[in-house]
Amino acid sequence: MKKKPELIVRNAGFTDAEGIYSLIKAYPKELLARPLSDIAQNIDRFLVCEKGGAIVGVVSWSILPEIGHARHPSVEVKSLAVQKSLRKHGVGARLVKAVIERITVLHPSQIIVLTFTPEFFRKMGFHEVPKASLMHKLYMGCINCAKYDSPFTCPEVAMAMDM
Ligand SMILES: CC(C)(COP(=O)(O)OP(=O)(O)OC[C@H]1O[C@@H](n2cnc3c(N)ncnc32)[C@H](O)[C@@H]1OP(=O)(O)O)[C@@H](O)C(=O)NCCC(=O)NCCS
Repeated sequence: MKKKPELIVRNAGFTDAEGIYSLIKAYPKELLARPLSDIAQNIDRFLVCEKGGAIVGVVSWSILPEIGHARHPSVEVKSLAVQKSLRKHGVGARLVKAVIERITVLHPSQIIVLTFTPEFFRKMGFHEVPKASLMHKLYMGCINCAKYDSPFTCPEVAMAMDM
């Protein structure tokens, strides 16, 4: 019997940029599109999940700004996408566990996420927080959002994991 190809989560490289771009672009409602140039420039902040040589999942992270000393640094998990045909096969969970492990070495105060799938992130150990507690995120990202007039009317749920 033929063995099923295993899932491998690894750091992304430049040759993964187009695969990452397509995975993110497949979810225009759930995810902010990211230009190829942005993906390439931040490729060191992406993990991919590979199956049989194909990229079937992606996740990235970014560090939110702090004024002065980084006393309560927050890292945001973003651009999490799993190939549609492979959803509910554990790829998302593998990626989130790996990205938490990667972020943990930075010793942040918290990991945050803004998401339309709070149930999934609850299973990963995140809890809901008031959006107003993430003002730096709102200023950095939501301020440029054209989908909703205000982050407070946007249906995305703010979640955090304390470290
Ligand atoms: C959300 C997403 C990443 C989940 O990935 P996945 O590979 O399907 O998830 P997994 O198979 O690893 O699921 C892990 C657990 O979460 C549950 N789960 C997965 N998707 C879920 C959802 N949409 N709602 C509720 N629970 C969900 C699974 O049932 C599983 O539960 P179990 O451990 O009790 O069996 C994937 O559906 C996706 O790419 N969605 C579109 C993009 C998106 O919304 N990204 C998140 C933006 S922050």
